[in-house]
Formats: sequence, C-alpha cells, structure tokens
Amino acid sequence: MHLLKDADIDPAPLMGKTVAVLGYGNQGRAQALNLKDSGIEVVVGLRGGSGSAFDAESAGLATALLEEAVRSADVVMMLSPDETHEALYREIEPHLSSGAALGFSHGLSIRFGFIDPRPDLDVFLVAPKGPGTALRSLYMEGKGMLAAWAVARDSSGNARDIALAYGRAIGCGRAGLIATTFAEEAEADLFNEQAVVWGAVPELLIAGFDTLVAGGVSPELAYLECVGELKLLADLIEARGIAGMREVISNTAELGALLGGRRIVDESVRRRMAEVLTEVRAGRFAGELRQEEASGYARLERAREENRKTLLEETYRRLSDAES
Ligand SMILES: NC(=O)c1ccc[n+]([C@@H]2O[C@H](COP(=O)([O-])OP(=O)(O)OC[C@H]3O[C@@H](n4cnc5c(N)ncnc54)[C@H](OP(=O)(O)O)[C@@H]3O)[C@@H](O)[C@H]2O)c1
Repeated sequence: MHLLKDADIDPAPLMGKTVAVLGYGNQGRAQALNLKDSGIEVVVGLRGGSGSAFDAESAGLATALLEEAVRSADVVMMLSPDETHEALYREIEPHLSSGAALGFSHGLSIRFGFIDPRPDLDVFLVAPKGPGTALRSLYMEGKGMLAAWAVARDSSGNARDIALAYGRAIGCGRAGLIATTFAEEAEADLFNEQAVVWGAVPELLIAGFDTLVAGGVSPELAYLECVGELKLLADLIEARGIAGMREVISNTAELGALLGGRRIVDESVRRRMAEVLTEVRAGRFAGELRQEEASGYARLERAREENRKTLLEETYRRLSDAES
C-alpha cells in the first residue's frame, strides 16, 4: 500500500489559490476551517437564505452565494449532500472559470453519472474516512484523518498535485492519503454503509437487544450488554486489530465469540453481502437515493420517527439521563 504523508506532498499547488467550499455542513465546515488554518484562501458558497452563513462568518470565513463563490475560485469543492450534486452542478457550471478544479469527498456523483463535468475541468477526490467533526478536532490536535484520493480527469496536467495539496491542507497528510479511483471509493463506501458498519452493525445490536428483552432480561441490562460495549470493542480493534482484540478479552468471551460469531454471520450473510455489492455496482442504490430526494426524503423521515419511539431508544434515554 502506498500511503502519502505530508513530507511526500508539495503544498505549493494550492498556495495563492482560492478554494470555494460549497456547503457548510458536516464536511464543509471542517474542510473550510482546516483549509483556512493551513493558510489557504477560502470562500464558503451557500444558497440564498442559508442558515449556515452566520455560523461560517462567525468562524471567520468569507461567504458568498454559490454563483459568486465559484466565479473567483481555482478549486471548487462539492460538499453539499450527494443527491443535490446534479442540480448544484447544473447551477454553477456556467460560472466555473476555465481550467478550474472540481473536487469531491465521495466518488458517487461521478461514478454513477450524476455529474458529467465540463472537459476543461480537473476532477479530483479527497475523501476523509470519517465525519467532519472528527476531521476538524483531529486537525486542531495536530493530528489528521486518513483519506482516499483519486483523479478522474487531469485536464491541466496538475490534477494529482492539486488533489494531494488539498488533502494535505485539510490535515489528512498527517495520517496518510491512500490512492484509489472514484469507482472503487464510491462502491466500497456504499457497500460498507449498507452491509457492514452503518447498516448491518446497528441492526445486529437491535436484534440482540430485542432477543434478550423477549427472553426476560431487563431493557437496561440488555442495552448495556448489546449496545453499551460497542465502544470498548471499537477502541480495542483500533488499538490492536481484530486478532489482538480477541487475545486481550477473557477466555470466556474469546471462546464465546469463536463459537457464536460464525453461527450468526454464516455463509448466508456473506452471500447477501455479495448481492449488496453487485447491486451497488449496478447503480441500484444511486437510483434509490435520487428517488428519496425527489420524494422530499419521505422514507427517511418516516424511519427517523419510528426509530425514536422504540424501547431501545427509550432505554438509551433513561440510561443517559441517569448518568448525567
Ligand atoms: N458526513 C460525513 O461524515 C462524510 C464523510 C466523508 C465524506 N462525505 C461526503 O461529503 C459530502 C458532503 O456531505 P455532508 O454530510 O457534509 O453534507 P451535509 O452536512 O448534509 O451538507 C449540508 C450543507 O449542504 C448545503 N446544501 C444542502 N442542499 C443544498 C443544495 N441543494 N444546494 C446547495 N447547497 C446545499 C446545506 O446548505 P444550507 O446551509 O443552506 O442548509 C449545508 O450547508 C458528500 O459528498 C458526502 O458523501 C461526508
């Protein structure tokens, strides 16, 4: 694996350049602030009436309407939600300067054809592998977050250098930048969201909680067992890897994990994971995401409402209130 770090990356390609960060949400806020603190000229581009303008200006950032922000920019970073990229790009394209670089933090819009950038533009990816809140707090601690980087189009001959300088300026070169492609990053990220960490793991926790409660265990104890221990597991895996984690837990837990883990995550789970990957690659999820936006996020709103009312959530709130 070739991991590029600060010492391997020339910051010069971004020096004296203006970066327009479009969107001031999870990633937009963190990336704009990290760029500014790295000495880069930043303007945050927002739609008219955006509630984020006040926050960005209070943090010392220049803001402008989208059209104006991109007009003056050498690099334009697309940091609104992925499903808004198609319409956003249509709006800004006539105002992008010739030969500008268009950047993304997720490969989805290019991989699944939401956007077909103008031929004169450089197109690059710097995708931090974690949320913006952590990207910002790590930067302020003098650390960084791993990121994946790629170039989809190199019109200027400098797209690689711009992408790496961008990754360095948001602090990711302190941890390392891993080369990928837009397709690989988009497919792996969507797969993980659905089949592993963000999709399957919470459902496994919920199923475990429900099983214990149905078996007569109190919701509080079921919560502490099935959900509360997840952070301990994550910390151990981060510090020691999965094999190392297994070696430091008790023999009782290690033997239980050996006998129980593969009984639950059996061949049928692996088969369904492979199906998810095939569907992701065929663009099925990208279609669902488009439909969800067109419906005004009806399905997501309904699921959020239902999730808040479950016994598991009530138990979480009770335990949090008791602790505070
Ligand atoms: N969230 C993460 O942890 C994470 C991690 C890695 C990569 N990424 C990627 O980073 C990108 C941004 O994701 P995010 O989670 O940071 O997004 P987000 O927090 O949902 O972005 C919110 C910002 O986008 C603006 N926005 C929303 N709709 C818009 C539209 N139609 N036109 C213009 N601006 C619009 C909002 O404007 P207002 O201020 O007007 O509301 C707000 O400033 C995505 O490509 C995502 O896949 C995210």
